[in-house]
Amino acid sequence: MIQVIATDRAGQVHRLQAPVGTLLMEVLRDADLGVEAVCGGCCACATCHVYIAGPQMKLLTAERGQLESALVGSTDVFREFESRLSCQVELRPSLDKLVLQIAPEE
Ligand code: FES
Repeated sequence: MIQVIATDRAGQVHRLQAPVGTLLMEVLRDADLGVEAVCGGCCACATCHVYIAGPQMKLLTAERGQLESALVGSTDVFREFESRLSCQVELRPSLDKLVLQIAPEE
């Protein structure tokens, strides 16, 4: 298990326990933090959009793919250096204490 520190849209901070190997989206959705994940993780809805601060972005094992970039980049709340779709982030031990903020709804 690793810990994920998530700030919800109301500004409340949640410390979540998350199994290694799961998707970040699943952890946020299951914690009921307003991440709808409408498409179920198919990289087709952007309702799992989160912000991950710059230094922590470097810890992610994979950068944004083409599809993810196109989808999240088309949102009004896109941030070039912080935006990720949480369904595209698999949790690894190196991501323990990952800090993120759930992006505003579109
Ligand atoms: S859950 Fe739909 S894009 Fe991530």
